Amino acid sequence: MCGIVGYVGSQQPSGRPLEVVLEGLRRLEYRGYDSAGVALVSPGAPLAVAKKAGKLANLVEEIDMHPLPAATAAIGHTRWATHGAPNDMNAHPHVSDGVAVIHNGIVENFALLKAELHAAGVVFTSETDTEVVAHLVARAYADSSDLTVALRTVAQRLQGTFTLLAVHRDDPTTVVGARHDSPLVVGLGDGENFLGSDVSAFIAFTRDALELGQDQVVTITPTTVTVTDLAGTPVEARRFTVDWDAKAAEKGGFRSFMDKEIHDQPHAVADTLLGRTDATGRLVLDEMRIDESVLRAVDKIVVVACGTAAYAGHVAKYAIEHWCRIPVEVELAHEFRYRDPVVNERTLVVAVSQSGETMDTLMAVRHAKEQGATTLAIVNTHGSTIPRESDAALYTHAGPEIAVASTKAFLAQITAAYLLGLYLAQLRGNKFADEIALVLDELREIPDKIQQVLDRAGRVREIARWMVDTQSVLFLGRHVGYPVAMEGALKLKELAYIHAEGFAAGELKHGPIALIEPGQPVFVVVPSPRGRDSLHSKIVSNIQEIRARGARTLVIAEEGDEAVRPFADEVFTVPQTSTLLAPLLTVVPLQIFACELATAKGLDVDQPRNLAKSVTVE
Ligand code: F6R
Repeated sequence: MCGIVGYVGSQQPSGRPLEVVLEGLRRLEYRGYDSAGVALVSPGAPLAVAKKAGKLANLVEEIDMHPLPAATAAIGHTRWATHGAPNDMNAHPHVSDGVAVIHNGIVENFALLKAELHAAGVVFTSETDTEVVAHLVARAYADSSDLTVALRTVAQRLQGTFTLLAVHRDDPTTVVGARHDSPLVVGLGDGENFLGSDVSAFIAFTRDALELGQDQVVTITPTTVTVTDLAGTPVEARRFTVDWDAKAAEKGGFRSFMDKEIHDQPHAVADTLLGRTDATGRLVLDEMRIDESVLRAVDKIVVVACGTAAYAGHVAKYAIEHWCRIPVEVELAHEFRYRDPVVNERTLVVAVSQSGETMDTLMAVRHAKEQGATTLAIVNTHGSTIPRESDAALYTHAGPEIAVASTKAFLAQITAAYLLGLYLAQLRGNKFADEIALVLDELREIPDKIQQVLDRAGRVREIARWMVDTQSVLFLGRHVGYPVAMEGALKLKELAYIHAEGFAAGELKHGPIALIEPGQPVFVVVPSPRGRDSLHSKIVSNIQEIRARGARTLVIAEEGDEAVRPFADEVFTVPQTSTLLAPLLTVVPLQIFACELATAKGLDVDQPRNLAKSVTVE
């Protein structure tokens, strides 16, 4: 939450620092859009600051009306409000005596620090915790005349979580950053360097990057990058190359990033599958740095994740238990972290996260490690914290996901979870090589099948537009269709602000069926009739039960499934595949439905209210 960008370039003041920082903010706006602001420094000039409540467009308009001077360095911030209302006054940067500071996170001891500053006569102009940091850095700078020393000194006093960037009027070719439990990566340029909350902040300019660890301080100048720990001891940062295409973070002619990302899904799945087998067809997961003997000894898997990523975990449970015969539990990371789970050296804890920065999931990984578990991250964003702190990482290759609501990352997470399940089955001898090869072949056909679902989405869109005044929609599924139903409901809630709930269809008669009244729209995710007979026939009975009570049934079913037609008001078909792989197809019409309905309501599907993409606070 909150996006952070820093830039420093040549000694000659120019428009580039502002251009880079605004471009970075544009790409990071998904992290928060309550306000945006920039601070620019150039030799011999006062700090230039502009900030505005609301989306980045408001700041850009402000700068158009009141242009900012040329500069050598700049910092920029897009805010997801924690302390203080989302207004101009509380927008970052916060300034004190030549210092400008931006912050992502929460300073938990800010009241104490503020009282101390009050007592020393400091006057505050905002309600934020960040302003406290700005005053502290200004005072520390007065003592040391060194911005790095000043930020390091202040960072040691802070409790909570933070990524901080600071610039000083008197040091116009330096930007200093510090991080504790919040993300920060470095972009390496030629005669210029960058800082960002994630690599999308600078992929338009460079793909060379450095990963920073916890509790580190980084100082960038046009030609140097220096990393230390909080005590000032130099640290070697790991260099990596960003394999995301900058164009992937553009709308590319679609109305919204979400629309584009839904259409990117065939690629997201195909790219996640790419290069995972050797010349003999054996599955190889190169990033799995966990000793094979440890994986063979695993007697329980616990998936920890939040929101959509947790639903990917639910799908993983069905597949991994079926293929590997290892018990799999799925738990919301924030619940796992605050209880006393039965986890030990023989447990594999799998953290699923698009951003790799979700604080709840990060804390769950740490909690699992404390109990001796082996940890594996299924993550989309290189350079992020969760894979760095896990024993191994299995990267999804969905590319940058800009829309706040997850779509292509979800499909890539499910794909990676299948790969993990098949890999474990191969390693532990649960499945013969030819059985695994068959599933992999079927998986490789999925991208084309997703494309077919996208090509025939016209009817879903039409229905979504008709339902623009709908107050409530229910979603039912069984087996792997159950997490798909929950994901369909989540998408509708977060995008269209409509009450929606996903249920296991078998649970209906235990209560939720009381919600059914004439006209109630209900999506039903139907498993393949070619799979387990009982599963299919049970859900057909469920459709009949709700239809008899007046529900309007909107059914997602496999091509050729004639049994559901008599009881369906609408059928949206998906190509045939095996039951376990079906979520990669059946969720797509539900994503399109939510996106289209929200768009028809005139809502911003890329930036739904109150949300931010990367939830870096607990
Ligand atoms: C919903 C959505 C969220 C995220 C959740 C976890 O559309 O995007 O529910 O899935 O906040 O985020 P990551 O995957 O970054 O850990």
